[in-house]
Amino acid sequence: MKTFSDKDAMRAHVRSLKAQGKSVGCVLTMGFLHEGHVGLVHECLKHVDEVVTSIFVNPTQFGEKEDLDNYPTDLEGDLAKFEAAGVNAVFLPTPDVMYPEGADTVVTVAGLSDILQGKVRPGHFQGVTTVVTKLFNILEPDVTVFGEKDYQQLAIIRQMVRDMAMAVDVKGLPIVREADGLAMSSRNVRLTPEDRAASVVLNQALDLVTKHENDPLTVEEFRALVREHIAQEPRADIRAIDIRDAATLAPFYGRLDRPAVILLSVRFGAILLIDNRVIGPGKEHL
Ligand code: PAJ
Repeated sequence: MKTFSDKDAMRAHVRSLKAQGKSVGCVLTMGFLHEGHVGLVHECLKHVDEVVTSIFVNPTQFGEKEDLDNYPTDLEGDLAKFEAAGVNAVFLPTPDVMYPEGADTVVTVAGLSDILQGKVRPGHFQGVTTVVTKLFNILEPDVTVFGEKDYQQLAIIRQMVRDMAMAVDVKGLPIVREADGLAMSSRNVRLTPEDRAASVVLNQALDLVTKHENDPLTVEEFRALVREHIAQEPRADIRAIDIRDAATLAPFYGRLDRPAVILLSVRFGAILLIDNRVIGPGKEHL
């Protein structure tokens, strides 16, 4: 497994793979890898000959400098995990490589970036779409896999690729969970033991919804079901429970006549956890 920090050398490597007739996929990360990230690599390898990955803690998607400074890192462990997963090469740029002096161009998916998580984290998705565009331009992937864990991010990337006619096929990977159901996240290690134990309530609430998805309930009733369940856990500080059209993220009212996504945003202590679940008829065809 090779590593590159220079963007021209990275691009030349991908092109050399393609010159050998190989298809190339990419998996983009901010490091501190867990099985969710590794799952993206495995999924990507189902569709392409070689997978290249990136590890870059992107400053422009962080609102508070403190979050950026506290982002956990484990480069050695990350490289070992990527190597074991069969990654061909890893791109490890420094901020000046991704944002050269005077860089002044941004990519924004209007609308979708301003709702839900975008409302509470202004500028976050613009930071994501800008860096992802740059990474696509350097890695020139045929396929990319993003996690459904970050449901809105995936929807935004799909729309960006469509709107800008980017030549990459975007695939989604279902949420990879811990044995007790908590969605894997690099933030989980920052939970206190008590909050870590309490956090299973999110997946339980989503399971409850899945159990009832064929009942003749309205989305308002589903939302109440979820809220009641999570509220039983005193450590859970509910920030948002949204139910949206799973394809467009538009508001959803009334009965479940098409796929809907339930998006949870709940704080435990200082840590904000997100999780989601798609329910409703036709969800397998999304
Ligand atoms: P990061 O949070 O490191 O996540 C990298 C990828 O892993 C994303 O596609 C994310 O959805 C996926 N992922 C994280 N946890 C997952 C889980 N439990 N199951 C399945 N997939 C999971 O998302 C980012 O980095 C950044 O915004 C990035 C796209 C790299 C741009 O900077």
